[in-house]
Amino acid sequence: MGSPGRSALEARLPTIRAELGIDAVVANGENVADGVGITPRLADRLLAAGVDAITLGNHAFRRSEIAVYLESSERVVRPANTSTLTPGRGSTVVTAANGARLAVVNVLGSLFLHPATSMFEIVDELVEEATAATPLVVVDVHAEATSEKAALARWLDGRVTAVVGTHTHVQTSDARMLGKGTAFITDAGMTGPHESVIGVEADLAIRRMRTGMPVRFATAQGDVRIEGAVIDCDEVSGKATSIEAFRVFVS
Ligand SMILES: [Fe+2]
Repeated sequence: MGSPGRSALEARLPTIRAELGIDAVVANGENVADGVGITPRLADRLLAAGVDAITLGNHAFRRSEIAVYLESSERVVRPANTSTLTPGRGSTVVTAANGARLAVVNVLGSLFLHPATSMFEIVDELVEEATAATPLVVVDVHAEATSEKAALARWLDGRVTAVVGTHTHVQTSDARMLGKGTAFITDAGMTGPHESVIGVEADLAIRRMRTGMPVRFATAQGDVRIEGAVIDCDEVSGKATSIEAFRVFVS
């Protein structure tokens, strides 16, 4: 979320990777450009900070300059169920630090987010393609409704390594292994300022909600945290063995 989130990752991610022995990092980057969207420059900065793949969401195309970048990027994906006329791809395969290949799939839930196609109509084919390339598959389900995320995770249990929810900016306390070897958390949370209304300066969010008038939002600054989930998995079977929610207090 905004420059506080990006700065926190740039400062801390190399150490976190080393301390926890992390082989691959997937980050949702759709709010990195002042809270809405992503630019090529900011995508490159996240990748340089130690992120291996970036997923997006309902704000994927808010910055027009990202369109050409998405067409050629092999490390930044937008939701697979946006219109077929949008630029970019909905899945990719990256190489982890230990040499394993990790497929990253990004889908958008329906409630409030209006994807061109239901994620349930396209996800089976995406997972089939991904598992043809590698047994390690992580799905970022970018969705408002906890029920949609849980239903997708249960539908994919045993077929993917992990289903990780994003979009609400609030980390859920339900990280768990499902019965057939898929790790799941409803929402990985927010890397950004928590002294806020989901990353936005509280006064501005409150004013817009109280008055119904347009208010230009600004990213908050206080109580910056890095949030996410750490997943252990078996690179031969593609099954996860554990998942833990992750939180670091930065400033
Ligand atoms: Fe979102």
